Amino acid sequence: MKPLHLSLLVAAVATMPSLAAAAPLPKPATFAVCAACHQVSPTGRAVIGPNLWAVGGRKAGTAAGFAYSPAMKAAGYKWDRAKLVAFISNPQGAVPGTRMAFGGIKDPAKATELANYLLSLK
Ligand code: HEC
Repeated sequence: MKPLHLSLLVAAVATMPSLAAAAPLPKPATFAVCAACHQVSPTGRAVIGPNLWAVGGRKAGTAAGFAYSPAMKAAGYKWDRAKLVAFISNPQGAVPGTRMAFGGIKDPAKATELANYLLSLK
């Protein structure tokens, strides 16, 4: 989708408050790298990584049908914005021993954009 079309879509959604509250945010371009391992739909399934639909508020390491690392199962917290930004920025730093083989998104603005996107998937 071209940027102009995207901004028109955002403008259209913004004028419909009830829909804006329910609809997932547009997928950030940065998510392309995550999509190699993660699905993000209500009917999605675990592939290389767990389905990230409804990850916001979910306890870390508990999506059905995915064999998590002991480290992720032991994280013991629910995913909120701060936890997601920390994990997306530096997976091994946030959850030492995680099997997510990914170095992290170092740009804080991009990491936050991804966290906000994930939190809107519900
Ligand atoms: C190379 C594959 C791969 C890539 C690329 C990847 N992930 Fe993951 N991700 C995983 C795996 C595997 C796990 C499970 C980790 C574990 O069990 O320790 C995971 C776990 C997660 C979790 C925790 C989910 C839960 O149910 O607790 C989040 C959130 C997440 N990834 C987000 C992302 C985001 C956002 C990106 C892109 C910036 C990304 N991942 C890129 C493989 C990947």
